Amino acid sequence: MDDDEKLPVHVGIIMDGNGRWAKKRGLPRSMGHREGAKNLKKLLKYIYTKNIKVVSLFAFSTENFKRDASEVSYLMQLIEKFCKDEKEEFIGQRVRVVFSGSSNNLSQNLLKAMHELEDATREFSDKILNICFNYGGRNEIVDATRNIAMMVKNNEIDIDDITEELLDNNMYNKLPPLDFVIRTSGEMRISNFMLWQSSYAEYYFPSVLFPDFDSREFDIALSEYSKRKRRFGGVVVDEKENN
Ligand code: FPP
Repeated sequence: MDDDEKLPVHVGIIMDGNGRWAKKRGLPRSMGHREGAKNLKKLLKYIYTKNIKVVSLFAFSTENFKRDASEVSYLMQLIEKFCKDEKEEFIGQRVRVVFSGSSNNLSQNLLKAMHELEDATREFSDKILNICFNYGGRNEIVDATRNIAMMVKNNEIDIDDITEELLDNNMYNKLPPLDFVIRTSGEMRISNFMLWQSSYAEYYFPSVLFPDFDSREFDIALSEYSKRKRRFGGVVVDEKENN
């Protein structure tokens, strides 16, 4: 697709279907996650050839702790390895990596790997990869509300200073609004993913499972996005002309 004007600035991907990918092949769920991680590395390289500024990934929700301990531990190791193995790649691509979520229940080794990746890429600003890990969208809004309540309590701001912009500035990371959210595997839910940032996002639910969501599928998704007429609560220009 050549028309950069129709590219989303901020794309979110809910990487769903790893477990089903593995089950279909008679493999343990962890092998689906391994394949998902392999696919993610290739997919990101492809996305970086496009003029897309921010990518947000849903990698682990706060609710995912309800899964079997062995699956949780596999996912924790996978993300830690990803942070270490991909560090040079992100530096080479000049991508700033940030994490959104809570540090509760994460090991010191994992937190160290996450912070090292954030620190190593902090100077970049053209492209951002936001990894939602141990993340819940409602919780993000609660945390922002707590920060703001504390500012009021400390007389740093008045109640009248509480605006959408202030809430926006108190999310885990300062990011532009989501334009486009893709959830693979055919599930049509948002599952607590970036609720604040997705107020006017376009959604796309391809049936393909995440390990099979490749560059071709991503191009199909972008072409679907380019056909959407975004209204932001208003009226699109060509509709106005027809009425
Ligand atoms: C949902 O599929 C997927 C996850 C909970 C984990 C996503 C993780 C990856 C793609 C691994 C790589 C990520 C990073 C950042 C290294 P599911 O297990 O719920 O699939 P199912 O619905 O088919 O069971």
